[in-house]
Parts: sequence; C-alpha cells; structure tokens
Amino acid sequence: MNAFAMSTPGHVNPGLWRHPDNRSQDHTDIEYWTSLAKTSEAGKFHGLFLADMLGIYDFYKGPDNIIQVLAGGAQFPHTDPLFSTLDHLSKGRVGWNIVTSYLESAARNFGLDTQIPHNERYEIASEYLDVVYKLWEESWRDDAIVNDPIRRQFTDPERVRRIDHHGKKFSVAGPFSVQPSPQRTPFIFQAGTSTAGKKFAAKHAEAMFIPGMEPHIVRKSVDDIRALVSEEGRDPQNIKLLLGMLVIVDETDELAQAKYEEYLSNSDQEGSLALFGGWTGADLDKYTDDEDFAFSGPGAIQSIIDSWSATIPGGKGIKWTKTRIAKELALGGPHPKAIGSPETVADLLEHWVEVGDVDGFNLSYAVSPGGFEDMIKWLFPELKKRQVFGADYAIPQGTTREQYLTDGKGSRLR
Ligand SMILES: Cc1cc2nc3c(=O)[nH]c(=O)nc-3n(C[C@H](O)[C@H](O)[C@H](O)COP(=O)(O)O)c2cc1C
Repeated sequence: MNAFAMSTPGHVNPGLWRHPDNRSQDHTDIEYWTSLAKTSEAGKFHGLFLADMLGIYDFYKGPDNIIQVLAGGAQFPHTDPLFSTLDHLSKGRVGWNIVTSYLESAARNFGLDTQIPHNERYEIASEYLDVVYKLWEESWRDDAIVNDPIRRQFTDPERVRRIDHHGKKFSVAGPFSVQPSPQRTPFIFQAGTSTAGKKFAAKHAEAMFIPGMEPHIVRKSVDDIRALVSEEGRDPQNIKLLLGMLVIVDETDELAQAKYEEYLSNSDQEGSLALFGGWTGADLDKYTDDEDFAFSGPGAIQSIIDSWSATIPGGKGIKWTKTRIAKELALGGPHPKAIGSPETVADLLEHWVEVGDVDGFNLSYAVSPGGFEDMIKWLFPELKKRQVFGADYAIPQGTTREQYLTDGKGSRLR
C-alpha cells in the first residue's frame, strides 16, 4: 500500500485545487509533505509514491497548446528534483557551487571515454547557465499563480511562457515546470581559479570557494578576480570570496595541538595518497618513502610538489617524502589549517581577511559534529567579541542571497 501523490496542484484530479479540503496546491511547502508522510505512516501505508514529469501536457487542442493545463493546474506546475524545488522547500536557502569537475572517473559516469577539454567544459557550463537563467527568471511572471476558483484558473496562461532555447549544446522548449521559488536563481558559487574559471566566475558567481595556503599569494588571485568582476560591470566587493580552512580549536593552544595530534594518529595515509592521486594525477605508490619529491622522481611530480610546498608555511627546504605529503593532507586536505586557542585561530582568520582580502571561510573539520561544536563554543564568541562576526542575525535568516549580500545582517566577517 503506497500513498500515490505528485508534487503539483492537480495530480490525477485537475481542478480539485479549488476544493476547500484539498491542500495539494501547497506542494511547495515542506510542512505539506512532512504532514502527509506522518499521516501515511501513522495509517500504516508502506510508502509515499511520487509521480514526476519532465515536460508539460501540450497535446489537447494542440499542437503546443498549454492553456487548459495551466488554468486547471493539471500536473503543472510541479516541482523538479533539483534547485527550484529545494529553494521552495527550504524557503530560499539554496546555493549552488558550479564546478566543471576534474575526475576521469566522473567523465566515465556520463558516457564519455575521457574528460571534455578544460576550457570547453566552461563553455558548456556557460550555455547551461543561460538555459537555467531563462527557466528561472524569464518563464514565469511573479503573479502567474492566481489560484482563482471563480475564473477556474490555477495559473493564468497569459503569464507563463516557453523559453525556446536553441543553443550549441542545449535545446530546451520550456515552460519551466516549477513556479517561481523565493530566490528563483539559487545563490551561485564557483570554485575553479584557472583563467577560464575566473572569467566564468566574474560573469556568474555571487561567491567563490577559493583555494590557497598563503594570504599574500591568494591576494594576487583575489585582486585578479575582483578586477575581472569590475570588467563585467559589477561591484568587485559584491563577489564574496571564501577560503577553505581546517579549524581545530580548544581553550588553549596546547589543548588544540593535542587534539590535532590525536586526530592525526587516526588518519589514513593510503587514503590521503589516493586523494592526492585524484587531485594531481600523480600516483605515489610506485615510490619508496626515501624519495624526496622536491628533488627527484618524475618532473611532473617534482613541479607539483615544488609549487605546492612553496605555498605551505615552512614547506621550503624540508624533505617532501610520501609520508610527509600524506601527513600534510591528512587533516584539512589541500586547505590551510588553523589550530589553536580561540585567540590564535581568530588572529589567523583576521590575518587572512586583511592580507588575502577574503570575505569569509569554508571551515572544515577533523571530526563532525564535534569540530563544528568546538568552533561554535570557542571560536565564534571570540570573533563576536572582536566585532568581526555578526552573530545577531535573526532566525529565520532570510534567503541565502540576503544572508550573503545584505550589509550588517549576515554572519559575514565584514
Ligand atoms: C576550492 C575548490 C573546491 C572544489 N570543490 C569541488 C567539488 O565539490 N566537486 C567537484 O567535482 N569539484 C570541485 N572542485 C574542482 C573543480 O571541479 C575543478 O577545480 C575545476 O574543474 C577546475 O577549475 P579550474 O581549472 O578553473 O581551477 C573544487 C575546486 C576548488 C578549487
């Protein structure tokens, strides 16, 4: 016994959205679904089975006619399994980090033998964004859902249009199947910092997740990005740049350092070297631990280690063995680490903001949720005391975009 439903005003009951007892028109509301799930479970249904659709019924009085389907709410609009749906259900709290990937194994999961060349991936991503912007921003008017029982219109057909995108890689007729969500377009991140990646970000990204080990080196990249954003006619401060960082914090430096050592003793060298292989394309398995990769081994690996170790504080002039590489990556991966008392960690974050001109951080953990609980317990009060972290935001916090871009309201470092 499954309860059979669909995330739409009229599943196999067009027009019933007008009935006072019917609530399926609340399908963009998470409470509708949690309540239906609880009711079904309490009544001993075995499951909740959801129909889904990737298009619109445009055959009746056709071809291409969708007037009755829109007015009747006949399986349209309906939520898709991705961003607009989540944006509805989370009341506008969705962001999307757009990356073009780097794994051969990912390419092979999409029917390809090898990856599409680097810059072409960004071109495809750009056209993909053109399509989704059209769907999110140009297909529905804000006032398209009229929910008018007298005129028998759930959606006013005059206020919805197809997008008819015909591009190099994508052809999409539309209309968008989801009614406008709180943010329409999810808050957009980007993470690649190649020339093509920065250009893509300057055009599309509202925030970037940036890599880097030393603030003065990252500053060059940050200046570059802000200049490109300016060239696009945008306010360069309006792209928020977030640095990846591992935080291990406790009451004192000694306690935090002891925690780090203890976590490190649980780390897995082979796992770290496997990640290194994926990130760099270098398989270190073939070498013994006597090998100093800064000076020997294949040129490709030497140059990777050379440029990488130059960015690690204290990384120059030491022996870069397999074990040393694995230890460096074991906690926090390729990102810098902030280990210490609240004051030490806060100093480091502030230093990054000052010298690197970053706007904030993606803070990662060694253990979860303990790592985050420690940040909340030790680090955040210190940042609040220094008045660099607005901890007085209201809950609910508004949409993700408001959270990032509204001065004085967000939990931003500035
Ligand atoms: C900080 C950062 C975070 C990233 N996160 C992801 C991720 O979550 N998933 C993923 O597939 N790729 C991720 N990537 C990798 C990007 O897919 C990859 O870097 C991109 O294809 C290449 O960009 P670039 O050549 O412009 O630097 C990340 C990259 C960076 C720098």
